[in-house]
Amino acid sequence: MDHVIGIDTSTTATKAVVIDRDGRVVAEGVQEYDYQIPQPGWSEQDPGLWWEATVAAVRSALSAAEIDGAAVAAIGLTGQMHGLVLLDDAREVLRPAILWNDQRTAEQCVDIRRRVGAQRLIDVTGNDALPGFTAPKLLWVRDHEPAVFERTAHVLLPKDYVRLRLTDELALDKADGAGTQLFDLAARDWSPEVLRALELDADWFPATHEGPTITGEVSAAAAAATGLRPGTPVVAGGGDQAANAVGVGAVDPGTMALSLGTSGVVFTATDAPTTEAKGRVHAFCHAVPDRWHLMGVMLSAAGSLRWHRDALAPEASFEALSEEAGTVPAGSDNLFFLPYLTGERTPHPDPMARGAFIGLNVQHRRPHLTRAVMEGVAFGLRDSLDLMLAAGTPRPEQIRASGGGVRSTLWRQILADTLDAEIATVATAEGAAFGAGLLASVGAGWFVDTQEAVRTVVATTPVAEPGPDRERYADAHRRYKELYPALVDHFHGA
Ligand code: XUL
Repeated sequence: MDHVIGIDTSTTATKAVVIDRDGRVVAEGVQEYDYQIPQPGWSEQDPGLWWEATVAAVRSALSAAEIDGAAVAAIGLTGQMHGLVLLDDAREVLRPAILWNDQRTAEQCVDIRRRVGAQRLIDVTGNDALPGFTAPKLLWVRDHEPAVFERTAHVLLPKDYVRLRLTDELALDKADGAGTQLFDLAARDWSPEVLRALELDADWFPATHEGPTITGEVSAAAAAATGLRPGTPVVAGGGDQAANAVGVGAVDPGTMALSLGTSGVVFTATDAPTTEAKGRVHAFCHAVPDRWHLMGVMLSAAGSLRWHRDALAPEASFEALSEEAGTVPAGSDNLFFLPYLTGERTPHPDPMARGAFIGLNVQHRRPHLTRAVMEGVAFGLRDSLDLMLAAGTPRPEQIRASGGGVRSTLWRQILADTLDAEIATVATAEGAAFGAGLLASVGAGWFVDTQEAVRTVVATTPVAEPGPDRERYADAHRRYKELYPALVDHFHGA
């Protein structure tokens, strides 16, 4: 049994990654799917898809690795966070899952602050109420679909629905649990106070476990479907951001991770429950015992560059765009871009925020626009970093970056200059699935703890140092910060 498997149930695909004892990714299997947008701002997915995709992804990963289920020592689960999965007392799905990027619950967020107390909510859960979190989705179902709410017997998150199908067990990990906003952050478990204030039945919420803890074993039926061995242990794992941080080795205070995918995340581990005064950066449990984390989430990071390419340069590759953007000076000749194309979370928790180019003049060409997009995203990430520093996080010397955006040499340099830290990449690009696999390898007993696993298998390569444009970017960031407050009334009136 020289392999473990990490399974990531993301918003667009399920990925299964086979990892060997040296932490090498031997093979992967991927099965894609769509999500539904039943109304603007809504986002839903059928949990059945996740299970079908798990079966396909695991089968294809085993076959690509040329191993059978008997070679797998343990499985780790990760996935999109915050999604609401409702089951009846026969454990049947009651309605499509409401996903992390669904924005329908602004009213319920107001209700949560009123019921718990705005400051008390931050003190207990670590976070202000946000439409993305799970708790307001549950209240939305109570307000709008009482018949569904009435029949609810169990509440799960996406990867834990996969766990149910794999092991017949109802269980959740601490990292994803904290993202429901129903957790007592310090106690690392459901908050009786918040559940009471929201009048939610405590029996609906399963037992929670630390990331490397075994929560169950692959059932005979799941083994027959997937090709796994019946009895294979399945560890708790973690929400995708916490698992990704494990995968890049951000498990102890002082190590910071940055992910530049569709969304952009700045993440740091803490050794005590730490919150930002106004709850503007998310404070959740880490997938590692005795660790918590702070994280700023930008909704359109590399997603902004994709929009820019699709809208203005559909024929161009990202490489070509990035290269030509390197021909204009830092600061894009005073052109600014606000990356709030799909609303924002950090530092402005505002679903109505919108994107903008500011300062256009007749001399600006496509390279200026491209560079301004990359710089605007870096400034938004700097906003998150500043909030984390204000909450007491030590200034990072190095930031471990992952995600499609860091393939651009220019973007790496802009990040190093704007965040004033060395940017490093890690050997594996498998992100959350790799982190879930590492948690499984700890559960399998290959390492004494996650820290040892990370020390043994995660290697970093520095790719950019802060350079001469640092000062110019510090100044441009000051000007960037004035733009959202100047435009917010317009966004809300639009
Ligand atoms: C984290 C978050 C996203 C989703 C996407 O708070 O909402 O990272 O987990 O997969």
